[in-house]
Amino acid sequence: MRILVTGGCGFIGANFLLKKVQQFSDSQFLNLDALTYAGNPLSLRDIESAPNYQFAHVDLADYESVRQIVSEFKPDVIVHFAAETHVDRSLKSPLSFLRSNVDGTTHLLEAARECWDGNYAGKVFMHVSTDEVYGELGHTGKFHEELPYRPSSPYSASKAASDHMVNAWFKSFGLPTKITNCSNNYGPLQFPEKLIPLMIRNASTGKPLPVYGDGSNVRDWLYVGDHVEAIWQVMEKGKLGETYCIGGESERTNLDVVKAICRSVSELMNQPMESLERLITFVTDRPGHDFRYAIDTSKIKSELGWQPTVTFEEGLHQTVKWYLENPGWIDSVTSGEYLRWVEEHYGATEHA
Ligand code: TYD
Repeated sequence: MRILVTGGCGFIGANFLLKKVQQFSDSQFLNLDALTYAGNPLSLRDIESAPNYQFAHVDLADYESVRQIVSEFKPDVIVHFAAETHVDRSLKSPLSFLRSNVDGTTHLLEAARECWDGNYAGKVFMHVSTDEVYGELGHTGKFHEELPYRPSSPYSASKAASDHMVNAWFKSFGLPTKITNCSNNYGPLQFPEKLIPLMIRNASTGKPLPVYGDGSNVRDWLYVGDHVEAIWQVMEKGKLGETYCIGGESERTNLDVVKAICRSVSELMNQPMESLERLITFVTDRPGHDFRYAIDTSKIKSELGWQPTVTFEEGLHQTVKWYLENPGWIDSVTSGEYLRWVEEHYGATEHA
């Protein structure tokens, strides 16, 4: 099988999925990544020399390059993770989200259509999306596949638009597509702008822990390994043209998450819990901050037999441990050094 994965250097699930390079030695993997600020080839150091792994430095917004690489590689499966994903960034610079998420997805769909040219047997275009397309929940209820889209932020609106494009290519052209909408991912190798890695980094270096509003917003946390297994099962067994919601069944308030991080850091670094909790600082809320996300996983469970296997406490502890043991990885993604490295190896990137 020939598998093209987008966003393998930056997207937490994509780099995890690419570890399958070692397991599926008969398959060829191509990682297509623009190496924007969140992409770090160091995340794939353990697989980069595998004979069945290739990397291509391509920006999905550049249609001609996308067409060329897709037609050269001739994938059977495309797993499309690449996206701008951070809500706060989308509030500051929304246009880059349209470019990467809407144009980028549309370019990839069109390149796949051209490459496959109606020969769709054994082909799948997997589009990895977010539960944020459904908007926000109050204290009760859960997101499920039948809900209308009500995105709140430029980020979730751009993902909603990309989902619509995927469905349009399925309905209009018969492209063999499947969509997954997942809840908040966490785990090793996640760029430290997201809540969990940011708090781990700050707690372990004695910096303030900025909690938006009163910390009562709720997210459903999905361990990256469980997410990737769900995607793999949808790819193998899911129905074409369908959507599958994936959740971790681990709802927590943000304040509870931050306190749990303090607990793990306290244990692992042998520091008093009180001094870490004292770092918690309530800051101005995010504009349009969705109150709660939660996923009804009935469909993927009953149709495909998938279910989350990692509890939040276990996954979080492992994640904290990984970040504490890999300070060099964080330094490499946050220092100018990484950007200079990208420039040397791949030429300047627009986003860098
Ligand atoms: P985030 O990781 O940005 O994911 P998303 O916005 O896609 O859910 O944020 C998760 C939650 O944590 C969200 O409710 C916003 C909140 N948050 C903070 O309270 N402080 C922070 O510094 C960050 C980055 C997020």
